[in-house]
Parts: sequence; C-alpha cells; structure tokens
Amino acid sequence: MQAVAQVKMEAKMKAFKMTDAVRGFTFGDPVPTETVILEKQYREDTLPFSVEVAEGKGRFSLPLTKEDRVYGLGPNLGGINKRGRCYESYCTDDPLHHEDKTTLYGAHNFFVLEDADVATGFFIDFPGRIRYDVGFTAMETITVEISGEDFDLYLIEGGSIKEIVRSFHEIIGKSYMPPKWGLGYFQSRWGYKTEEEVQEVYETFKSQDIPLDGIYLDLDYMEDFKDFSLSKERFPNFKKLTQELKEEGVRLIPIIDAGVKVEEGYNIYEEGIQGDHFVKDAEGKPYVAAVWPGKVHFPDFLKKDTRTWFGDQYKMLTDLGIDGVWNDMNEPAIFYDETALQEGVDAAMAAKGENLGVNAFFSLRDKFMNIGNKEEYYRRFFHTIEGKTYTNEAVHNLYGYNMTVSASEGLKKHLQKRHVLISRASAIGMHRYSGLWTGDNSSWWSHLSLNLRMMPALNMSGFYYVGADTGGFGGQVSGELLTRWLQLSVFTPLLRNHSALGTRVQEPYAFHEPLVSYNRAQIKRRYMLLPYLYSEMLKVHEKGGLMFSPLAFEFFGQEAQEAEDQMLLGEELMMAPVVEANKKGRYVYLPESMALVDFDMEEVTLTKESAGVTYMTYDLKDLKFFLRRNRLLPFTLPVGNVSKEDLTTLRVLGYVDTEASYTLYDDDGESYGYEEGKRFETHLQVRRLEDGELTIDVQSTHPKIQTVIFTLMDDSGDIRIKEVQIGL
Ligand code: GLC
Repeated sequence: MQAVAQVKMEAKMKAFKMTDAVRGFTFGDPVPTETVILEKQYREDTLPFSVEVAEGKGRFSLPLTKEDRVYGLGPNLGGINKRGRCYESYCTDDPLHHEDKTTLYGAHNFFVLEDADVATGFFIDFPGRIRYDVGFTAMETITVEISGEDFDLYLIEGGSIKEIVRSFHEIIGKSYMPPKWGLGYFQSRWGYKTEEEVQEVYETFKSQDIPLDGIYLDLDYMEDFKDFSLSKERFPNFKKLTQELKEEGVRLIPIIDAGVKVEEGYNIYEEGIQGDHFVKDAEGKPYVAAVWPGKVHFPDFLKKDTRTWFGDQYKMLTDLGIDGVWNDMNEPAIFYDETALQEGVDAAMAAKGENLGVNAFFSLRDKFMNIGNKEEYYRRFFHTIEGKTYTNEAVHNLYGYNMTVSASEGLKKHLQKRHVLISRASAIGMHRYSGLWTGDNSSWWSHLSLNLRMMPALNMSGFYYVGADTGGFGGQVSGELLTRWLQLSVFTPLLRNHSALGTRVQEPYAFHEPLVSYNRAQIKRRYMLLPYLYSEMLKVHEKGGLMFSPLAFEFFGQEAQEAEDQMLLGEELMMAPVVEANKKGRYVYLPESMALVDFDMEEVTLTKESAGVTYMTYDLKDLKFFLRRNRLLPFTLPVGNVSKEDLTTLRVLGYVDTEASYTLYDDDGESYGYEEGKRFETHLQVRRLEDGELTIDVQSTHPKIQTVIFTLMDDSGDIRIKEVQIGL
C-alpha cells in the first residue's frame, strides 16, 4: 500500500493501539459488535490515508499498483485475489448466486492488501452494509464505502500476510472447535421426510459400506416448520431413532430457523410474546415477516435475555439426544412482508381487466418476482442496543451472528460436551461460537472452484470449521461433478453432502457403478486423513493463522500468485483438485519439488515431482495431492465413523531429504479440555544422515498409538518403509 501524504484528521476520530501490530481509529460512536476481544488503548496517532465521513457515510480509497493484490472478505464470489470486482458486506440469502452477484450469506470485513514489499491488513468493525470496489470502477483504486458514520477502522501492520492474519486473530479471539465426529462425513438432503427415510439412508450407507457420522434433518422433522417442535406424524419415535443411531456412531443434526411461527398456543410464540423477545415494527408491535412457516416473528437476538431465552430452547433437542444443530435463514431471510404482499395484491387487483403496457406489466411482475429479501424490509424492524434504537439495516450483520451466540450458549449449557454448530449467516466474531456452511450453492462446476477459492478467506476471518454443500444445493448434479466435489471436500473440515428438494438425488450411492465405488473410496480416504485434519484443527484453534493458504502466501513469483486452483493445506500438503468437467488430469504448478501422493486405500504411492509445471493424470477414482519436501503426513486406515477410530497403528508418509518433523495433536474429541491445553502429542521426527541412513524418533503421550509405520521417500525418489514401536 502506498501511504497517502495528505492526512485529514477527522474531528470525531480517536486513535488507539491494541497490540504491537494492531492500531485503530474510532469514528463517531460505533455500535458495540463484540467482534474484537482486546481493549483499546487510546492515544495520539495519525491515519496514513484520508477517510471522509459525511452525510451518513464513511468512505476511503487506496491506490492499487499493478502488482498489488487484495485477499480476504470471507465467503464471497470472485477470485482468491479479490481485485476486479465489487463486493458488499450485508448478509443476504441468495440461492442463485452467479457471477454478477455482490452479496452473499456472510459479511466479513477483513482484507489484506499486499504490494511488492509490504502487506497491510484492514478490518472495519461496523455491522451495517459496506461496499468494496476493488479495482472495478478504476483498476488502480480500491474504494470502501461504509453506510454509516460510526465505525472502527483497524490497521494491521508488520510482516507477511500470514503474520498479519495471526495478529488479526489475536484481537478477535479463538475459534470454535467442533467435536471430532464433526469432521466425519455428513449426509443431508432437504427432502428426507420421515424417520423411515432417515433410517433407510443410514441402512444404505451401512450396506454399501460407506462411512457416515451424521444425517442432517431439514425442515420436515418439525411440525409446520415450527422451531423446537417435532412432527408426530413423520417422526413419531424421534428420540428412539436418535439414540439408536448414536449407538452406531451416527448423529442426527436438526435444523433451526430464525423465524418463529405466529400461532396462538405454540409455546415458543407465546413465550416470545410474553417475554417481549421479538423485534418490533415502527408501531412497536412484533414485526411480521413470512418464511417457511408462513407468518413469523424474529427473536431479537441482539438482546441478551432473548439470546438466553432462545438458547435454552435447544434443551428440547439435547434432551432427545441431539449433539449438533444447523442454524438457518438467519440473515434473516424474508420471503415477503405484509406491506409488500399487500402492495402486490393491490397492484394485481388494479391491473385486472386492464390492457397493460410493457412497463406496467414488468412493474407488476416485479412486485412478486422480487418480493424476497427486499432492502426496505430491513428498515421496517428495529433493535435496541444499550438504550439506542437501530433499524435492522443498521445492525444487520449482527443478527445471524447473535442467533448463533444464543445457540452456542444454550447448547454449551445443556450438553456436558462439545457440539456441532454451523450457521448460514455469519460475521467475524461469530467464529468464536460456530462454524458455517457457505449457503445455497448450485451443482455447477464454477461453484466447485468457488468452494476452493473461499477457503483461505474464511480462515482469514477466523472460521475453520467450514465447508460448502458438497455436490451443490440447487440444480442437477452429475455423477462426475459429485465425485470431483468429494475429491475436494475430503479436505474441508466440514464435509456435508446437501441438496435441495426436487433436485436429482446425490447421496454417494445414488449413481451407477463405478461412481459409487469411487465415492465410497473418496469418503474412506477422508477418514484416513482424519488424524491430520483434526490435528491441524486443534493447532489453528490454539495458534490462529491459516489452515488453507493460497500458494501466494508462501511462495514468491507470478505463477504462485496466479495459481488459484491449487491450495496449501497446513504446512504439509498442496491440493490440486480437478474442478472442470471431462478432465482426466490437469496442469499443476509446483513452486518446489514435491512428492505426488496417490492416496489409494490399497497402497499409497509417492512419486517425486520436480519444481515447475507438470501435467498430472487425475482420474475420478483417484485421490491425489502433493506432500511438500521435508514434511511428514500422518494418516490411518479407514473406519465406518469417528466412534470406531483405531489409532493403534499410525501411518506416516514422508518426503524427507534432510530432516522433517510433525507433531500430531489429538485429544478425547469431545470435552473442553483442549481449552486448557489438555491434549496428546505425538512428535515424529526423521533425519537422513550423510550416508543415507535414517534416524527416526517418536515421542508420544497418546494413550492409543503403539506402532508407527513410516513410508519415506528421498530426493532420488527411493522409498523406504520403517516401523517403530512406541516405548521400545
Ligand atoms: C435454506 C437452506 C438450505 C435448506 C433449506 C430448507 O435454503 O440454506 O440448506 O435445505 O433452506 O430448509
């Protein structure tokens, strides 16, 4: 970033310092968002560029040189390098997000601008809409427009992008850590209508020998889409089903929506009215919107006592044996509100019998076609924070975030162990309470590559327990696309195959052979990688930083900067998935020599690949990736689900020319002990001496691991296998 000489000190601006790397500037009187957990130490400072604050807006522009790159902004469209398009931070339900769209489900206002010499992080702590024009209108300018005069602007300076991300994570606090079973394979579909169907899904996974850790329950388990209700007709034995499946190591994970059905006699509605828990319209009455159940009220999650009240409702589910939930429609999504519907109906009545001109027709059509999530709805209901009233629009991005805080607190209180929790809407800060899925994507190849590109930006915002709807939510998946998607999703911490009502079925077994065998193999390989993935999750939880990094964060050069379809996972792996149709392989850029891993269940093979561009064959049946030089990768044999994990024998792949080490983190997988550093560590170290001999050292506090089998390749491509007994 080029510092701008001109400095305009705003009258209402106060400067503060937070850590050595983080300073900030408060404009006006910002809404407390609780995104940042450290204290501000106010002091004198100058902002190195000018920020205009006027007429209800804050605005700043920064110059972009040709070489500058911009990273971050969370779950958004566009590339890993965000240049060349516009984005908006305003949590929005957009089930058909194609190239033109600027808003998605999350609002993450952290980005890093990197030029040839220096990287600078920016975080805007503001809960309303922010627009980013990242070199779109003018290629050499980034402009940020904040829709309010009250906000905190943070600058994070010093070091590489990775260091900037870590400094940012220090100020926003540690991330949510799921239980280990949360890293298993999950099957979901909007359309499992009865408990028999759910049972059948489970039975099919079992008979087809496909591992499974959970089945997500969509709306149909509820009665009339009412939160915290059960359909007596479709799920008469909910508790029994939940418990029987849990004994087999398979969890049910029900959905909870933000809107509470307006219905007299319905306990949640009645309690909400009595406790004054719903957001209000301009007349002070509970605001009426329509979502799945028809008319709903929205709990005011921005109020602490409402969060506690709603959070306690999750006990109804935990009492039934539920250990995980997904929070949905919490942007909040609105199908229509009463005013808009009335306007449409009035316009239609007025048009009756008229000879409509084209403009009148389109205007009438728009009244219904564009009736969902209209901007004005969010100006029609209000929240009160610390005695001040705000339209939802002004604090919009805090809504889903606080629904999730509510769920997290409730689940934590009512379960004595860790739970799975994912939310659709998100903002930074929520990362301390849950993971997320990236919302309603489609069964498109472009959304498969979007899934990959979103991963580092999500990590930058502190979200690690993330994944997309594998196979795509909307649209018709082809067998080829699902298998390719699994080849990517086996690496993402949240691995959930989910699809919409009415779309082609996409369970891994719903295709013809050999695809079913390929899908089975992919999912089994996920379980083989589990020790590593879980260890990496525990590490980023503790230390912050990135689990998924673009090559550009680690290597110099234009090739690394532009390789947006490859990704580093941890310090060990490089993924290079196939994200296009009809391919039998792909070109891969190797910034250094690496081992190509053919991760086959029968036999894992390593092949040395030199730095440069290489063509890799990559069939649908394969799982291929790269192991970096002087790195080790622990893995194990596949099991039916996490409850059956067997770590007696740990396997390790290594590409070791001189020396490599890895510390495998593990824990009991379900308690909060990790918060106090309670974990098992297995230190693996391999040294290659001058005469070519190998020395191997294993130190482990893990109660289960007894044997470690190393498969080690050197620079000449030779492979040696060594077995180490622990304690001998
Ligand atoms: C929303 C969710 C989707 C879910 C559907 C029905 O579109 O994003 O995952 O299946 O609602 O509940």
